[in-house]
Amino acid sequence: MTAVPTDMPARWIHACGLEAFDRRTIVAVNLLGQDVILIRDADRFFAAERACPHEGADLAHGRCSGGSLFCPRHSAWFDLQDGAVSPGWSFPALRIYPVRVIGDGLWIDLSDVAP
Ligand code: FES
Repeated sequence: MTAVPTDMPARWIHACGLEAFDRRTIVAVNLLGQDVILIRDADRFFAAERACPHEGADLAHGRCSGGSLFCPRHSAWFDLQDGAVSPGWSFPALRIYPVRVIGDGLWIDLSDVAP
């Protein structure tokens, strides 16, 4: 486990090494008891809650394209910048977590998650 950089708040968590994306674009992890998906979209990385806010589908089985994450069950999609759901749907936005790439690792800020 990589140490937390000293210039970062305590809630930044090392989520995975970037090699985890060598063969896939969505990586599922459990951090501090939270099921989270880590997403690589070309040269950008995102992190989001794993369960779809509609009916709880596992978004680790979704797909990502052009900054959007598509749910595998009903094909609604989410903007990975803010979690907004695609037009025509009326359920809460997908929870998005801040991420940073440091060295060969992806870090996620879970400061909004209760301990
Ligand atoms: S469960 Fe994801 S859109 Fe319905």
